[in-house]
Amino acid sequence: MVTVAWRGKPIWILRRTPEVLNSLKAISVLLADPDSKVESQQPPYASNVHRSIKPEFLVVVGLCTHLGCVPLTRFAVGALSGLGDDWPGGYFCPCHGSKFDLAGRVFKNVPAPTNLVVPPHHYAWDTVIEIGVHEQPT
Ligand code: FES
Repeated sequence: MVTVAWRGKPIWILRRTPEVLNSLKAISVLLADPDSKVESQQPPYASNVHRSIKPEFLVVVGLCTHLGCVPLTRFAVGALSGLGDDWPGGYFCPCHGSKFDLAGRVFKNVPAPTNLVVPPHHYAWDTVIEIGVHEQPT
């Protein structure tokens, strides 16, 4: 994962393994909005199970949707994370205990009301992401 700044906000760009991508559907039952139905939280081109243009790369605003703190990475899976045996890896906001998965989707029964925000973005080239400009329809 790398963090870049956009409009004073941290933007996380996370490269996900095929194993992580395969696990995203399996944990849907634990999530408040697994299918990204809240339209304000991502552009239409990121309204999919991986919440991204290219499945491998997640691009999200790294601010908790509760009160705007910066969550911590908790990439370790299971008990090693300190978040329980069933923790699939993701982000943890210690302020009030909100949890997000590796697609920025919020868990059920936490203070944060919605998934992390996917900002407008597109691939200017295959290896260059431009933040703040929507993907153009083809
Ligand atoms: S600011 Fe993240 S849980 Fe409250």
